Amino acid sequence: MAAAGSGSFQDGRIASKRLMMLVALLLVSCCLGHGFGDEDHVEVEEVGSSCMESERRALLAIKSDMYDPDNWFSSWTGKDCCGWRGVACDHTTGHVTKLDLRYPYTYTYTYTYDMWDVFYDAETIGASKVNPSLQELKYLKYLDLSMNNFSHAPVPSVISSLVHLEYLNLSYAMFYGLVPPQLGNLSNLYHLDLGGWFLHVDDLDWLSRIPSLKYLDMSYVNLSKATNWFYVINSIPTLEVLRLRYADLPYVPSPLPPFNLTAIATLDLSWNSNISSAMLRWLSNATSLEYLLLFRCGSLTIEPLQVALASLINLKELDLSFNSLEGEIRETLNNVSSRGLKHLDLSWNQLSGDIPPGSLRDLEYLDLSGNFNVIVHIFASLGNLTNLRHLGLSGNSISGEIPQTVGNFVRLEYLDLSSNGIIGKIPESIGNLSNLVELYLSRNNIAGSIPRTM
Ligand SMILES: *[C@@H]1O[C@H](CO)[C@@H](O)[C@H](O)[C@H]1NC(C)=O
Ligand SMILES: *[C@@H]1O[C@H](CO)[C@@H](O)[C@H](O)[C@H]1NC(C)=O
Ligand SMILES: *[C@@H]1O[C@H](CO)[C@@H](O)[C@H](O)[C@H]1NC(C)=O
Ligand SMILES: *[C@@H]1O[C@H](CO)[C@@H](O)[C@H](O)[C@H]1NC(C)=O
Ligand SMILES: *[C@@H]1O[C@H](CO)[C@@H](O)[C@H](O)[C@H]1NC(C)=O
Ligand SMILES: *[C@@H]1O[C@H](CO)[C@@H](O)[C@H](O)[C@H]1NC(C)=O
Ligand SMILES: *[C@@H]1O[C@H](CO)[C@@H](O)[C@H](O)[C@H]1NC(C)=O
Ligand SMILES: *[C@@H]1O[C@H](CO)[C@@H](O)[C@H](O)[C@H]1NC(C)=O
Ligand SMILES: *[C@@H]1O[C@H](CO)[C@@H](O)[C@H](O)[C@H]1NC(C)=O
Ligand SMILES: *[C@@H]1O[C@H](CO)[C@@H](O)[C@H](O)[C@H]1NC(C)=O
Repeated sequence: MAAAGSGSFQDGRIASKRLMMLVALLLVSCCLGHGFGDEDHVEVEEVGSSCMESERRALLAIKSDMYDPDNWFSSWTGKDCCGWRGVACDHTTGHVTKLDLRYPYTYTYTYTYDMWDVFYDAETIGASKVNPSLQELKYLKYLDLSMNNFSHAPVPSVISSLVHLEYLNLSYAMFYGLVPPQLGNLSNLYHLDLGGWFLHVDDLDWLSRIPSLKYLDMSYVNLSKATNWFYVINSIPTLEVLRLRYADLPYVPSPLPPFNLTAIATLDLSWNSNISSAMLRWLSNATSLEYLLLFRCGSLTIEPLQVALASLINLKELDLSFNSLEGEIRETLNNVSSRGLKHLDLSWNQLSGDIPPGSLRDLEYLDLSGNFNVIVHIFASLGNLTNLRHLGLSGNSISGEIPQTVGNFVRLEYLDLSSNGIIGKIPESIGNLSNLVELYLSRNNIAGSIPRTM
C-alpha cells in the first residue's frame, strides 16, 4: 500500500465492486441453468398448486414488461406462482401478498448496487414498464419496484388501488412527474419509500390519511410546493424514520407546532437550505433521535444547534458537514449530551480549536476535514479514542510530526491526514495498524515510506 492521492484507492474499490458483481452473476446463472427450473416442474406436478390462476397470469404479464438481462425470471414457470422468486403468498388464502422486483433482482449477493450508478448512467439498465395487470394482485402487502428503469413513466395509478399494501418501495426507479395524491388511499402502509430524482408533489395532505406510517423517504422529491409539509409530518407521531434529503423544503414560519414525533429515531433533512433556527430548537424535544443528518444545509446557526445537542441524549450519529458552522469545536462538543455518539462528521465548516480531551470515548467515525483552523495537538487530544475506524483530518492545519501514538488506533481502517503542515517521518508504529485500508498523507512535508509490514 502507498501513501498516495485518492485516485488509485477509489479505482481499486470500484474495480473490486464490479468483480464481486461478476462473480455473483456467474454463480447465479450457473444455478439457474441447471437444477432449479427442472426441480420446480416436478414439484408442481406432484404437489399441485396453491396459486390463483388469475394472479399467476397477472404475474406473467408483469414479467413480460420487465427488463431481464440475466434471465432471472426463468424460474417463473409452472403452476405454483407462490414458489417463484420474489413472490410470496398467504398460506391460508393462497393470494399473492409479496412482490419483490428490486433491481438487480438477485439481491441476495453482497454487491451493493448504488443509486448513483443509475443517476450517472454508469450502469445502463434497460427500460421496464409496470403492466396494468398489477391491479389483479389485490392482496399485495409488499411491493418493491425500486432501482428499475421505468424510463420517466408516471407513477402508475393502479398502485393506489392496492389498499392492503403495508410496504411500498418505488425508489430510484426513474418514475417521473407528480406523486399521485391517491397514494393516500394506502392507509395500511408502514413503509413508504419514494426517494428519487424526477418526482414532485403539489402538497402532502394525502400523507395524513396514512395514520400508522413508520418509515417515509421522499429524498430528492421536489417538495417546494408543499408549504404545510412540516404540519403534515408532525401529525404522524408513529414516524420512526424520516428522510427528506434534497427535497427543496419550503421555509416554515414560526411559531412551530408542539413537537409530536415521539418515536422518531432517524431524521435526514440534509441538503435543504431552509432549515431555520426555530426548527433546530424544536428538535431538542426529539429525545428519541439516534441518527441526525443535516449536511449541506447552507448555513445553520450554531446556538440553537447547541441547545438541541444538549438534549439529544440518545444520538449515535451526527452529520453536520458542509454547513459554514463557525465557532469553537470544543464548545459544540461540550454540548453533546449523548454518551453513545459513534459517528461525528463536522467536516467542511469553519470550526476552530481542538477536541476536548477525554470526550466522546465511543466514537468510531470522526471527520473534521476542511476546518482550516482546527489546529492544536490533535493526536494528544484524540488519545483515548481507540475505537476509531475512520479518522478524517484533511486540511486542518495540523503541524509537527505524526507521533508514535498513532499506532494506538488499532481499529483504524481509514486515515486521512492530507493537506496539513505535517513534517518529519512516517512513524514505524503506523505499521501496527493492521486494519488500515485507506491512508492519505499527500500535501504535507512527510518523508519516508510506509513500513513493509502493511
Ligand atoms: C432507461 O431507459 C431509457 C430508455 O430505454 C434509456 O434511454 C436510459 O438510458 C435508461 N437509463 C438508465 C439509467 O439505464
Ligand atoms: C427501498 O429500496 C432502496 C433501493 O433498493 C433501498 O435502499 C431502501 O432501503 C428501500 N427502502 C425500504 C424502506 O426498505
Ligand atoms: C382513492 O382516493 C380517491 C380520493 O383521493 C377516491 O376518489 C378514490 O375512490 C379512492 N380509490 C380507491 C380505489 O379507494
Ligand atoms: C422544484 O420545483 C420548482 C418548481 O415547482 C423549481 O422552481 C425548483 O427549482 C425545483 N427545485 C429543485 C431542487 O429542482
Ligand atoms: C399529534 O399527533 C396526534 C395523533 O396522535 C394528532 O391528533 C395531533 O393533531 C398531533 N398534533 C400536532 C400538533 O400535529
Ligand atoms: C428556501 O430556499 C430556497 C433555496 O433553496 C430559496 O430560494 C427560497 O427563497 C427559500 N424559501 C423561503 C421561504 O425562505
Ligand atoms: C419540549 O421541551 C421543552 C424543554 O426543552 C419542554 O419544556 C416542553 O414541554 C417540551 N414540549 C413537548 C411537546 O414535549
Ligand atoms: C453549551 O456548552 C457551553 C460550554 O461549552 C455552555 O456554556 C452552554 O450553556 C451550553 N449550552 C447548552 C444549550 O447546553
Ligand atoms: C484519557 O482518559 C483518562 C481517564 O479515563 C484521562 O485521565 C485522560 O486525560 C484522557 N486522555 C486524553 C488524552 O484524553
Ligand atoms: C507494534 O505492536 C507490537 C505488539 O503487537 C509492539 O511490541 C510494538 O512496540 C509496536 N510497535 C510500535 C512501533 O508501536
